[in-house]
Amino acid sequence: MAQQSTGLDPIEIVLNEKVETDETWLDQVDLVHNAIPEINYQHIRTSTNFLGKHLDLPLMISAVTGGIRNSQAIHQDLAEVAEKKGIAYGLGSQRTMIESVEDKHNFDVRHKAPKTMVLGNLGLLQIKKHTIEDIKKAIEPLKLDGLCIHLNPAHEIIRNKGNTDFSDSLRTLDGFIKRIGIPVIVKEVGNGINKDVAYKLRKIGAKGIDVGGKGGTSWTIINRLMKNDKKASIFDSWGIPTAASILEVKKEKLPVIATGGIRTGLDVAKAIALGADICGIALPILKIYKRRGKTGVEEYLDRIEEELKQVMFLTGSRSINDLRNTDYILYGKLREWQIQRGL
Ligand SMILES: Cc1cc2nc3c(=O)[nH]c(=O)nc-3n(C[C@H](O)[C@H](O)[C@H](O)COP(=O)(O)O)c2cc1C
Repeated sequence: MAQQSTGLDPIEIVLNEKVETDETWLDQVDLVHNAIPEINYQHIRTSTNFLGKHLDLPLMISAVTGGIRNSQAIHQDLAEVAEKKGIAYGLGSQRTMIESVEDKHNFDVRHKAPKTMVLGNLGLLQIKKHTIEDIKKAIEPLKLDGLCIHLNPAHEIIRNKGNTDFSDSLRTLDGFIKRIGIPVIVKEVGNGINKDVAYKLRKIGAKGIDVGGKGGTSWTIINRLMKNDKKASIFDSWGIPTAASILEVKKEKLPVIATGGIRTGLDVAKAIALGADICGIALPILKIYKRRGKTGVEEYLDRIEEELKQVMFLTGSRSINDLRNTDYILYGKLREWQIQRGL
């Protein structure tokens, strides 16, 4: 994302400070236990189709390299793990690549992930700033399956010299989606997407929504800490929790990625039961990669896979499709949100 302004290093901050808000509201969802699952655990299938591509697991390694200058090694390593696990891979912001074509090597991962889904990444502010021809020229050699466009108005008001001109955004996105030539997924990055925004995104032809809900990494906290401001701000936990945002957007029937505080296989299962198609994980992947490299990330994803299968077993879900239809109960604030928003 846009971290070019001065300040402390965002990567040092995410690795060493508490930047997660733990408010996904997935704790206010219970999946209903099934004492006679009638399935053989060995026959459980976690594969799914997302935007026309086969995935072995309904998962994505979400963008984690915004703010990392030399991102070639991490992009290639994580893309390799994504290929091995059969999950989607999200590149970090390609802003620098649009501004300088020499930066292409940082984002070129297709040889490491020839089969699986690789999604590019740009901000709304960059697609406003650059011509469609320049963006096309930069991204075409990467053979991407789609492009995520991130929205981050909350960060921009906290960030040093943030760009707060979000006027004309929908028209810009509309023109971009119609002309870029690959599927566009529009994503928030920690503050969630509401039903009206989801409706508008479907109308202009977005091919998917990443809810990027509140509850995981908070870029409003990160941007505050980058300014060395240690005092909690009213925007530290601003936004729509991930669970609520899934409920907000699902009526549009666009493919939905649930990101923001997804940490366990149970989180993945709950998000899918609520209406997500796949889930994205960012910060834990970066932390494990920094400590234990590719092997650590693989083991972490193996654990999520096992947990997901166990939850599928206990809800009698043989497939991801079954999991989508499993019964759940909503409590507390999430239930209140659902009622008041008419979801
Ligand atoms: C270090 C770091 C860098 C990130 N860089 C980007 C980025 O370049 N583009 C983007 O769209 N999102 C970026 N994100 C946001 C994540 O993709 C994700 O939406 C968000 O962190 C919520 O997921 P989490 O709670 O699992 O971390 C970044 C997140 C982290 C932690």
